[in-house]
Amino acid sequence: MSSQPVEPCTLALFGGLGDLALRKLFPALYQLDRAGLLPADTRILALGRDSGDPALHIAAIEEQVRQRVPSGDLEQETLRRFLARLDYLSMNFFDAEAYPKLAERIGPVSQLIAYFATPASVYGAICAGLAAAGLAERTRVVLEKPIGHDLESSRVVNNAVAAHFPEDRTYRIDHYLGKETVQNLIALRFANSLFETQWNQHHISHVEITVAEQVGIEGRWGYFDEAGQLRDMIQNHLLQLLCLIAMDPPSDLSADSIRDEKVKVLKALAPIGVEQLSQQVVRGQYVAGNILGKPVPGYLEEDNANTHSDTETFVALRAEIRNWRWSGVPFYLRTGKRMPQKLSQIVIHFKEPPHYIFAPEQRPLISNRLVIRLQPDEGISLQVMTKEQGLDKGMKLRSDPLQLSFSNTYRSARIPDAYERLLLEVMKGNQNLFVRKDEIEYAWTWCDRLIAGWRQQGDAPKPYAAGTWGPVASIALITREGRSWYGDL
Ligand code: BG6
Repeated sequence: MSSQPVEPCTLALFGGLGDLALRKLFPALYQLDRAGLLPADTRILALGRDSGDPALHIAAIEEQVRQRVPSGDLEQETLRRFLARLDYLSMNFFDAEAYPKLAERIGPVSQLIAYFATPASVYGAICAGLAAAGLAERTRVVLEKPIGHDLESSRVVNNAVAAHFPEDRTYRIDHYLGKETVQNLIALRFANSLFETQWNQHHISHVEITVAEQVGIEGRWGYFDEAGQLRDMIQNHLLQLLCLIAMDPPSDLSADSIRDEKVKVLKALAPIGVEQLSQQVVRGQYVAGNILGKPVPGYLEEDNANTHSDTETFVALRAEIRNWRWSGVPFYLRTGKRMPQKLSQIVIHFKEPPHYIFAPEQRPLISNRLVIRLQPDEGISLQVMTKEQGLDKGMKLRSDPLQLSFSNTYRSARIPDAYERLLLEVMKGNQNLFVRKDEIEYAWTWCDRLIAGWRQQGDAPKPYAAGTWGPVASIALITREGRSWYGDL
């Protein structure tokens, strides 16, 4: 995102043997090294509780990198250089006495990046430990989501961090902001005047945001059951996408200009009170079904499941933004586990032309749609109306896509993983792609109200079979307004 140089640093990875670090962070750091983006003296210190032989832990990290990086990207020389940067230190993050030892291991360094790939309940202890060991001044802290499970608990976490680190050195991750196509939303919207004049309630009828996953809970039942799909996906990823679609043009690309505009959107989100819940929100929970032709268990039958849980694995909702630009334009959001395919896309539906002149039976065809595909097959397509070719076709209309597929257009370029970009931006000291404290708080305020409504109503999630697009009620949510989810098969 920014062309600033990467500063040499030491990256201290708390939770350095955890799932996120092994699956995402080390492979991303390897790719940065491979791309020549890590200065020579960048060091990576993995920190974990496990007191076993550090060499074995480094070997386990190497093994993960080898498994997760595509074989064509594995280069012996890069791997050797990357592993030479790595070190492991065992420490108990709650033990204040461990931090001076950490400071000693880190030694004199101009820039420390402390990445918290741990539960948020540990952040406060780490921050206090770093500060007591004299490390706070030269440190940027990176916080993984979820930050709390509601407004109040998120404030506790944020305040514990803020007691030692100012906002301009606090980087809150929402990995969706690091995705290539999400970045492209900014370019699409603000580098093309074509769209800007159309981007409002005069021209757009409604917006859909779908983030569907094929996977289920993947061994994370304990965490997920406490959270549910609203906290796990809507509070952060989907609301961030909504903000990027709905925000006003920022005056420049600085982190605060962009974040100021996103906050305005979050503040303008119409609260969904208990009386609107049944019409505007659908919660679902998957039951056994089929994915890619294979039977899969229901949520309550997953390993370690509490068989009475009423946690939702699916949410569809209709949101409104109360401002001049978006008044009367519904934003339909939908996200779920165990859906037929992994698909994240945003569809902007434009209004019909003001006066219709073609044959009446063709009228339902008429609609320009801008489809922004975040994953898979990243790209953008604009559905436009044309006329069928041929003397015998008269003025028979058809809808065709003007298509830009990133993987086809930029064949030689690898689409980097979101974490590569995010790690790089932290090293550059650029906060554009990170979430400010007030964004988190407004998002929680809106979600807390929904959750309170569910609780008040005793709203149980509606079942849907794994491998389907969610409960029937989520289809009714949109069809009752004469619309349908784009592209559902
Ligand atoms: C994470 C959620 O933030 O995002 C997971 O905690 C979810 O439950 C994941 O699976 C989805 O990310 P992506 O990049 O695979 O769409």
